[in-house]
Amino acid sequence: MTSPSPCSGIGLMLCERLLSQDAGGLQLCLACRSVRRAQAARSALLASHPAAQVALLQVDTSSVASVLAAAQEVKLRYSRLDYLYLNAGIMPNPQFDVKAFFKGLFSSRVVSMLTTGEGILTQRDGVTPDGLQDVFATNLFGHFLLGLVVV
Ligand SMILES: NC(=O)c1ccc[n+]([C@@H]2O[C@H](COP(=O)([O-])OP(=O)(O)OC[C@H]3O[C@@H](n4cnc5c(N)ncnc54)[C@H](OP(=O)(O)O)[C@@H]3O)[C@@H](O)[C@H]2O)c1
Repeated sequence: MTSPSPCSGIGLMLCERLLSQDAGGLQLCLACRSVRRAQAARSALLASHPAAQVALLQVDTSSVASVLAAAQEVKLRYSRLDYLYLNAGIMPNPQFDVKAFFKGLFSSRVVSMLTTGEGILTQRDGVTPDGLQDVFATNLFGHFLLGLVVV
């Protein structure tokens, strides 16, 4: 079995940066949706900062129930929260709409379609079980709710 790639991106880089500037006493809590990837991120951080205090917390920012549960857990674990970095996010890639392309080829807007791509690039955004648009729930609402409850 291959080891999972760690939670990534700005979040992991931010943790690296905080730990490299830490004068001691910093307690990090990585709130991630995948526990396995969070564990891999923790291991990566501990490899370069062996004495660091890095805790994990499972949260799916696209789910209201998950965010509320995580917020409760934070309140139970910590008496004080100095900083909350809200960087989890998704950005669905635009898809090429073949059907719209062929329809546009035989329409009066063929030139504008071919020069601007208008109408042939679509971005899919699903709806969460809570009835919110995926990107809105994940990148914004979940963060808002988490901040509201824990701070
Ligand atoms: N990097 C840039 O240049 C840039 C520029 C402008 C805006 N942004 C925005 O900044 C944010 C972070 O960017 P990034 O480059 O660090 O992206 P990234 O490398 O894709 O990392 C995003 C992180 O968000 C986590 N995540 C996604 N959905 C989640 C959910 N429902 N619950 C909990 N965690 C979730 C992912 O977890 P998994 O590991 O489980 O996938 C991943 O660790 C994104 O919203 C991005 O759109 C980035």
